[in-house]
Amino acid sequence: VGDKPQPSKGLVITIDGPAGAGKSTVAKKVAERLGFAYIDTGAMYRAITWLALENQVDLDDRYILTDLALRARIELFGAEGGNKVYLDGHDVTKQIREPMVNAKVSKIATYPELRRVMVAKQREMAQTGNVVMDGRDIGTVVFPDADLKVFLTAGLEVRVQRRYEELWQKGYNPTYKEVEESVVKRDWQDSNRKVSPLRCPSGAVTIDTTQMSIDQVVDKIVRLLNNGRS
Ligand code: DC
Repeated sequence: VGDKPQPSKGLVITIDGPAGAGKSTVAKKVAERLGFAYIDTGAMYRAITWLALENQVDLDDRYILTDLALRARIELFGAEGGNKVYLDGHDVTKQIREPMVNAKVSKIATYPELRRVMVAKQREMAQTGNVVMDGRDIGTVVFPDADLKVFLTAGLEVRVQRRYEELWQKGYNPTYKEVEESVVKRDWQDSNRKVSPLRCPSGAVTIDTTQMSIDQVVDKIVRLLNNGRS
Protein backbone atom coordinates (compact mmCIF):
# COMPACT_ATOMS: atom_id res chain seq x y z
CA VAL A 1 0.00 0.00 0.00
CA GLY A 2 1.18 3.48 -0.80
CA ASP A 3 3.55 4.50 -3.57
CA LYS A 4 6.71 6.41 -2.77
CA PRO A 5 5.98 9.54 -0.75
CA GLN A 6 6.85 12.97 -2.11
CA PRO A 7 9.65 14.43 -0.05
CA SER A 8 8.00 16.39 2.72
CA LYS A 9 8.55 20.14 2.92
CA GLY A 10 9.23 20.18 6.66
CA LEU A 11 10.55 17.86 9.33
CA VAL A 12 8.61 14.67 10.04
CA ILE A 13 8.55 12.70 13.30
CA THR A 14 6.67 9.40 13.18
CA ILE A 15 5.36 7.65 16.28
CA ASP A 16 3.99 4.12 15.93
CA GLY A 17 3.00 1.55 18.49
CA PRO A 18 0.17 -0.52 19.98
CA ALA A 19 -2.99 0.83 21.62
CA GLY A 20 -2.35 2.43 25.00
CA ALA A 21 1.40 2.89 24.60
CA GLY A 22 0.84 6.63 25.01
CA LYS A 23 1.29 7.63 21.37
CA SER A 24 -1.30 10.37 21.11
CA THR A 25 -0.54 11.97 24.49
CA VAL A 26 3.17 11.97 23.74
CA ALA A 27 2.80 13.03 20.09
CA LYS A 28 0.57 15.96 21.08
CA LYS A 29 3.10 17.17 23.67
CA VAL A 30 6.07 16.76 21.35
CA ALA A 31 4.19 18.79 18.72
CA GLU A 32 3.38 21.53 21.26
CA ARG A 33 6.94 21.66 22.53
CA LEU A 34 8.42 21.95 19.03
CA GLY A 35 5.64 24.02 17.45
CA PHE A 36 4.92 21.22 14.94
CA ALA A 37 1.47 20.18 13.70
CA TYR A 38 0.09 17.00 15.25
CA ILE A 39 -1.59 14.51 12.95
CA ASP A 40 -3.50 11.70 14.65
CA THR A 41 -3.96 9.11 11.91
CA GLY A 42 -5.94 6.80 14.21
CA ALA A 43 -8.55 9.57 14.39
CA MET A 44 -8.79 9.45 10.60
CA TYR A 45 -9.52 5.70 10.55
CA ARG A 46 -11.95 6.26 13.41
CA ALA A 47 -13.75 9.03 11.53
CA ILE A 48 -14.36 6.76 8.53
CA THR A 49 -15.51 3.95 10.84
CA TRP A 50 -17.95 6.29 12.58
CA LEU A 51 -19.25 7.53 9.23
CA ALA A 52 -19.78 3.97 8.01
CA LEU A 53 -21.65 2.99 11.19
CA GLU A 54 -23.74 6.15 11.06
CA ASN A 55 -24.73 5.40 7.45
CA GLN A 56 -25.24 1.71 8.16
CA VAL A 57 -22.73 0.77 5.49
CA ASP A 58 -21.89 -2.94 5.25
CA LEU A 59 -18.48 -3.17 6.94
CA ASP A 60 -17.62 -6.16 4.75
CA ASP A 61 -17.94 -4.03 1.62
CA ARG A 62 -14.44 -2.61 1.21
CA TYR A 63 -15.32 -0.79 -2.01
CA ILE A 64 -18.17 1.24 -0.55
CA LEU A 65 -15.95 2.00 2.44
CA THR A 66 -13.10 3.12 0.21
CA ASP A 67 -15.47 5.35 -1.71
CA LEU A 68 -16.69 6.79 1.58
CA ALA A 69 -13.07 7.50 2.56
CA LEU A 70 -12.32 9.12 -0.81
CA ARG A 71 -15.22 11.53 -0.48
CA ALA A 72 -14.78 12.28 3.22
CA ARG A 73 -13.22 15.59 4.17
CA ILE A 74 -11.28 14.97 7.36
CA GLU A 75 -9.82 17.97 9.15
CA LEU A 76 -7.60 17.75 12.22
CA PHE A 77 -7.20 20.85 14.33
CA GLY A 78 -4.09 20.63 16.49
CA ALA A 79 -3.37 22.05 19.93
CA GLU A 80 -4.60 25.58 19.14
CA GLY A 81 -7.78 24.10 17.70
CA GLY A 82 -8.41 21.96 20.80
CA ASN A 83 -7.32 18.81 18.91
CA LYS A 84 -10.72 18.62 17.30
CA VAL A 85 -11.62 16.23 14.50
CA TYR A 86 -14.05 17.42 11.84
CA LEU A 87 -15.70 15.24 9.26
CA ASP A 88 -17.34 17.00 6.31
CA GLY A 89 -17.53 20.14 8.41
CA HIS A 90 -19.01 18.50 11.54
CA ASP A 91 -17.27 18.07 14.87
CA VAL A 92 -16.95 14.31 15.53
CA THR A 93 -14.20 14.51 18.17
CA LYS A 94 -16.25 12.75 20.83
CA GLN A 95 -18.15 10.33 18.63
CA ILE A 96 -15.02 8.71 17.16
CA ARG A 97 -13.93 7.53 20.65
CA GLU A 98 -17.14 5.62 21.30
CA PRO A 99 -16.77 1.90 22.15
CA MET A 100 -18.72 1.00 18.99
CA VAL A 101 -15.98 2.65 16.91
CA ASN A 102 -13.24 1.00 19.01
CA ALA A 103 -14.79 -2.37 18.23
CA LYS A 104 -14.91 -1.89 14.44
CA VAL A 105 -12.00 0.35 13.47
CA SER A 106 -9.39 -2.42 13.19
CA LYS A 107 -11.60 -4.30 10.74
CA ILE A 108 -11.89 -1.33 8.43
CA ALA A 109 -8.15 -0.69 8.73
CA THR A 110 -7.44 -4.08 7.10
CA TYR A 111 -8.64 -3.02 3.64
CA PRO A 112 -5.69 -2.11 1.37
CA GLU A 113 -7.79 0.05 -0.97
CA LEU A 114 -9.02 2.13 1.95
CA ARG A 115 -5.52 2.36 3.45
CA ARG A 116 -4.17 3.70 0.17
CA VAL A 117 -6.68 6.56 0.34
CA MET A 118 -5.76 7.29 3.95
CA VAL A 119 -2.01 7.22 3.26
CA ALA A 120 -2.47 9.74 0.42
CA LYS A 121 -4.46 12.03 2.72
CA GLN A 122 -1.81 11.73 5.43
CA ARG A 123 1.04 12.60 3.07
CA GLU A 124 -0.91 15.57 1.80
CA MET A 125 -1.53 16.80 5.35
CA ALA A 126 2.20 16.69 6.05
CA GLN A 127 2.91 19.11 3.21
CA THR A 128 1.92 22.02 5.42
CA GLY A 129 5.20 22.10 7.37
CA ASN A 130 6.82 20.32 10.32
CA VAL A 131 4.68 17.48 11.64
CA VAL A 132 4.44 14.80 14.32
CA MET A 133 2.31 11.95 13.02
CA ASP A 134 1.22 8.93 15.05
CA GLY A 135 -0.37 5.64 14.04
CA ARG A 136 0.55 2.06 13.15
CA ASP A 137 2.23 2.32 9.73
CA ILE A 138 3.63 5.84 9.72
CA GLY A 139 7.33 4.95 9.90
CA THR A 140 6.94 1.79 7.83
CA VAL A 141 4.69 2.98 4.98
CA VAL A 142 3.61 6.62 5.15
CA PHE A 143 7.01 8.23 5.86
CA PRO A 144 9.78 5.60 5.84
CA ASP A 145 12.33 8.39 5.30
CA ALA A 146 11.14 10.53 8.23
CA ASP A 147 13.66 12.64 10.15
CA LEU A 148 12.93 10.69 13.34
CA LYS A 149 11.03 7.41 13.71
CA VAL A 150 9.87 6.31 17.14
CA PHE A 151 8.28 3.02 18.20
CA LEU A 152 6.47 3.37 21.53
CA THR A 153 5.68 0.28 23.57
CA ALA A 154 4.55 -0.52 27.11
CA GLY A 155 3.59 -3.67 29.01
CA LEU A 156 0.03 -4.93 28.39
CA GLU A 157 -1.10 -4.27 31.97
CA VAL A 158 -0.04 -0.62 31.83
CA ARG A 159 -1.66 -0.13 28.45
CA VAL A 160 -4.95 -1.64 29.63
CA GLN A 161 -4.88 0.48 32.79
CA ARG A 162 -4.32 3.66 30.72
CA ARG A 163 -7.20 2.87 28.35
CA TYR A 164 -9.43 1.94 31.31
CA GLU A 165 -8.77 5.28 33.04
CA GLU A 166 -9.23 7.20 29.79
CA LEU A 167 -12.63 5.59 29.14
CA TRP A 168 -13.87 6.19 32.70
CA GLN A 169 -12.75 9.81 32.45
CA LYS A 170 -14.79 10.14 29.29
CA GLY A 171 -17.90 8.90 31.05
CA TYR A 172 -17.86 5.24 29.91
CA ASN A 173 -17.90 2.56 32.58
CA PRO A 174 -16.35 -0.63 31.17
CA THR A 175 -14.91 -3.33 33.43
CA TYR A 176 -11.14 -3.83 33.46
CA LYS A 177 -11.68 -7.22 31.80
CA GLU A 178 -13.66 -5.68 28.94
CA VAL A 179 -10.95 -3.12 28.28
CA GLU A 180 -8.28 -5.81 28.41
CA GLU A 181 -10.14 -7.97 25.90
CA SER A 182 -10.64 -5.03 23.56
CA VAL A 183 -6.94 -3.98 23.72
CA VAL A 184 -5.69 -7.55 23.19
CA LYS A 185 -8.05 -8.06 20.26
CA ARG A 186 -7.09 -4.78 18.61
CA ASP A 187 -3.35 -5.48 19.08
CA TRP A 188 -3.78 -8.86 17.48
CA GLN A 189 -5.75 -7.49 14.54
CA ASP A 190 -3.37 -4.57 13.99
CA SER A 191 -0.24 -6.75 14.16
CA ASN A 192 -1.55 -9.67 12.11
CA ARG A 193 -3.28 -7.99 9.20
CA LYS A 194 -1.74 -8.68 5.79
CA VAL A 195 -1.42 -5.05 4.75
CA SER A 196 0.80 -2.60 6.64
CA PRO A 197 0.72 -4.49 9.95
CA LEU A 198 1.96 -2.80 13.09
CA ARG A 199 5.73 -3.29 13.08
CA CYS A 200 8.73 -1.48 14.46
CA PRO A 201 9.97 0.51 11.43
CA SER A 202 13.57 -0.06 10.36
CA GLY A 203 15.79 2.64 11.79
CA ALA A 204 13.24 3.51 14.49
CA VAL A 205 14.14 4.17 18.12
CA THR A 206 12.09 1.95 20.45
CA ILE A 207 10.98 3.57 23.70
CA ASP A 208 9.37 1.36 26.36
CA THR A 209 7.11 3.72 28.32
CA THR A 210 6.09 1.23 31.05
CA GLN A 211 8.18 2.93 33.72
CA MET A 212 8.39 6.41 32.21
CA SER A 213 6.34 9.55 32.77
CA ILE A 214 4.90 11.37 29.77
CA ASP A 215 7.35 14.22 30.19
CA GLN A 216 10.32 11.85 30.26
CA VAL A 217 9.20 10.32 26.96
CA VAL A 218 8.62 13.76 25.41
CA ASP A 219 12.07 14.96 26.56
CA LYS A 220 13.68 11.90 25.07
CA ILE A 221 12.04 12.37 21.67
CA VAL A 222 12.92 16.08 21.52
CA ARG A 223 16.51 15.21 22.43
CA LEU A 224 16.66 12.48 19.79
CA LEU A 225 15.46 14.92 17.13
CA ASN A 226 17.97 17.57 18.15
CA ASN A 227 20.86 15.07 18.37
CA GLY A 228 20.01 13.69 14.97
CA ARG A 229 20.23 17.13 13.47
CA SER A 230 23.33 18.41 15.25
O1 DC B 1 -4.45 4.99 17.52
P1 DC B 1 -5.93 4.60 17.60
O2 DC B 1 -6.23 3.62 18.69
O3 DC B 1 -6.83 5.78 17.63
O4 DC B 1 -6.21 3.85 16.20
C1 DC B 1 -7.44 3.29 15.89
C2 DC B 1 -7.28 2.11 14.92
O5 DC B 1 -6.95 2.58 13.62
C3 DC B 1 -6.22 1.10 15.29
O6 DC B 1 -6.76 0.00 15.98
C4 DC B 1 -5.66 0.64 13.98
C5 DC B 1 -6.02 1.71 13.00
N1 DC B 1 -4.88 2.50 12.53
C6 DC B 1 -4.17 2.01 11.48
O7 DC B 1 -4.43 0.91 11.00
N2 DC B 1 -3.16 2.75 10.94
C7 DC B 1 -2.83 3.94 11.46
N3 DC B 1 -1.85 4.65 10.91
C8 DC B 1 -3.54 4.45 12.57
C9 DC B 1 -4.57 3.69 13.10
